[in-house]
Amino acid sequence: MAVHQEARLEPSNGNPPDRNAPERRPASGSSRGVDARLPVALLGAGGIGRMHAQRLRVHPDVCLAGVADPNPAARAWAEGLGVPWCAEPAELLDRVRPGAAIVATPNSLHTAVGLACIERRIPLLVEKPIADTVAEARRLADAARAANVPVLVGHQRRHGVAVQRARRLIAEGAVGRVVAVTMLAAWLKPARYFTEGPWRRQKGGGPVLINAIHDIDLLRHLVGEVAAVHAMASSAQRGFEVEDTAAAVLRLASGALATLVVTDSAVSPWNYDIVSGESELYPPQVADALYIAGTEGALTVPQLLHWRYRGASPEQRHWHAELTREQTTLHRRDPFAEQLRHLRAVAEGREVPLCSAEDGIATLRATQAVLESAATGATVEIDPEQGHVGGGEGKGTGGNAGRLAGEAVETNSGGSQGGGR
Ligand SMILES: NC(=O)c1ccc[n+]([C@@H]2O[C@H](COP(=O)([O-])OP(=O)(O)OC[C@H]3O[C@@H](n4cnc5c(N)ncnc54)[C@H](O)[C@@H]3O)[C@@H](O)[C@H]2O)c1
Repeated sequence: MAVHQEARLEPSNGNPPDRNAPERRPASGSSRGVDARLPVALLGAGGIGRMHAQRLRVHPDVCLAGVADPNPAARAWAEGLGVPWCAEPAELLDRVRPGAAIVATPNSLHTAVGLACIERRIPLLVEKPIADTVAEARRLADAARAANVPVLVGHQRRHGVAVQRARRLIAEGAVGRVVAVTMLAAWLKPARYFTEGPWRRQKGGGPVLINAIHDIDLLRHLVGEVAAVHAMASSAQRGFEVEDTAAAVLRLASGALATLVVTDSAVSPWNYDIVSGESELYPPQVADALYIAGTEGALTVPQLLHWRYRGASPEQRHWHAELTREQTTLHRRDPFAEQLRHLRAVAEGREVPLCSAEDGIATLRATQAVLESAATGATVEIDPEQGHVGGGEGKGTGGNAGRLAGEAVETNSGGSQGGGR
């Protein structure tokens, strides 16, 4: 069995250390010592699970402890890798007793499989969405909190260098108070995507829950909580039961407004996964997916183009005055590899989850509000504390910038609240 036995290998990303990354401190009191890699069980070995496995096998901080997946193809694959395999997650967890687990099963199993980890006090990375419903996600989060087991949700974009720099620039006042945001998540999926996975043609399988959830998570992470959503959806291009396109207006708790366009049916580079160059699956393009305009400047993500007026007087700051544009280029880093580094630090209590269970719930709730508004035609109001309270008239919120999502970090080592560094 592979646990503790794989040779220590070079970092998977080969990049210089990132000064923006959460602080790393040596593990204290760990029986593994600081050099041994943390064994991580993979629960669900489909598309994303195998991507995690590739990185686990060459990562300096974590290694692949074993695989649970009832699919016979997963068994053959795990045996080929020389790691333990079980059909059932609970069986694997009892057999290899990993230091952490990754839940990469279909959404509807996230809660049950996550609870199996929590019962055994095994910290987990649960893929997005945290669960298939807010109620199920709440069950998972509450169990984790009660057991003091940390949960990290797989919104890997938060681990990218461009997003981390954008967040810092915004916190430092580069755009001032955020006024308006535009998010684009448009690209063209091939026909076989829908024939290979017929569930992708049905409700719940569309680009809002699969793709736009990442953009909404970024919006929350960079700018703040979503307070209300009004949306429309269309299936006019593909003619499936599920939407192929949706457009939404989101009001943030700060009073800022955002728009989101998501489609899987149009030729377009304006999609974070394409323009960030962070996934090997998509040939990168030089363009942006997120446009943030504030009282002091404007910023795009991931290119980090930053516009502002140089002058400070009212005569030098208006639509006829000259704008200055700056751009910072960053060292590249694989956000999935960084997420695994962070998983170990979270499991060892050295860092709080960058995307906590509560973050996962808030992101899921705002994303489901897009679908609910599109279905009912009503504006969906969201109370970040209580859950959404249904359609109604938009109620005004205060005009100040509000905290950055995730800044309220719980000191509890369970880390199931907040989500800041
Ligand atoms: N973070 C991202 O960018 C990203 C990308 C893709 C998918 N995902 C998420 O990852 C999850 C998996 O997606 P996917 O595309 O890999 O799906 P998939 O269908 O390719 O893989 C799911 C795997 O889970 C296995 N499985 C089913 N029941 C199981 C059980 N009881 N125990 C263990 N394994 C079981 C299946 O056999 C399959 O191999 C979903 O929640 C999805 O939303 C996240």
